[in-house]
Amino acid sequence: MKTIATINFKGGVGKTTATWALGHVAALTPNTCSLVFDLDAQMSLTQAIALNEDGSPFKNFSDWQDRSLKRKKTIFNALDEFTGHGNFNFAANYDFIYKISDRYHFVPSVEDLYWTELELFDREKVKHFIQRLLEKIQNSSAVPVYDHILFDCPPSFSLLSYSVLSCCKLVLIPINPDFFAAKGLSLLLSSLRMRIEPFPVPKIGVFMNRAKKPGGSSLKRYSNETQRYLDDARDVLNRESSARGLTVKLFDTAIFDRVGMKRAIQEGLPGDFRTQFQSLWKEIQAFI
Ligand SMILES: Nc1ncnc2c1ncn2[C@@H]1O[C@H](COP(=O)(O)OP(=O)(O)O)[C@@H](O)[C@H]1O
Ligand SMILES: [Mg+2]
Repeated sequence: MKTIATINFKGGVGKTTATWALGHVAALTPNTCSLVFDLDAQMSLTQAIALNEDGSPFKNFSDWQDRSLKRKKTIFNALDEFTGHGNFNFAANYDFIYKISDRYHFVPSVEDLYWTELELFDREKVKHFIQRLLEKIQNSSAVPVYDHILFDCPPSFSLLSYSVLSCCKLVLIPINPDFFAAKGLSLLLSSLRMRIEPFPVPKIGVFMNRAKKPGGSSLKRYSNETQRYLDDARDVLNRESSARGLTVKLFDTAIFDRVGMKRAIQEGLPGDFRTQFQSLWKEIQAFI
């Protein structure tokens, strides 16, 4: 089981898009199953799965969600039970996990996740939540043994992010070709070890999302601007990795800016996007 957490403290860089696309691509590998968690209380990924392109509810999902809520099988219910006083007997089954397709499964977010940031829960306990939940999933005979588990994390260092980062294999950081990319990376990397302690820091992979193509007949891969921001990011990574003893990689694959992104995602991944994410996935597999 390989666990990957997509994070960046900046919103709108492509965490949700990348997590969803990589989960999809991962499940295309023959004989493998992937599971994606939406841990962001803003629920972007959950809404993209819950809604049709015209904004109306996607019936398959809303029927499933009604049942999951009624049977108290949301991720919030799991957390509530885990941090409570009794035993953690939460059963990981298909009331908890939604099947997007045969081999691509999903644990949606719920608004209640906002409460985890308040002092309602035993903070020390929440830190171990994801690890224990993964054990439940792994040991459950109701669902498959997942080969890849991906987490879409909120754009903040929440208790839940801590709980994921302390047990994941790879921290995946999307950046955009803008002035804030290198600065944000530097901030993130400089504080990561301190934030994850006493757990070891996972491997860190960075990729450029929304890369721009060069204009005209240029044979270069990227626009000058994108190339400059990539070079800046590489400098920061080299500096921070040697200063802090982190295992870091800037992936060679960049994801290009795509016009006409759809909000609803039941239709699957557009072909050009799929090729790019497949290439990124290959690099990720070779790295972890
Ligand atoms: N490569 C891309 N090309 C075009 N639009 C993109 C791309 N990646 C992300 N987006 C769009 O950018 C917005 C923010 O992306 P999202 O994945 O939600 O970011 P985050 O999860 O980091 O907040 C969304 O509207 C998404 O559709
Ligand atoms: Mg998001």
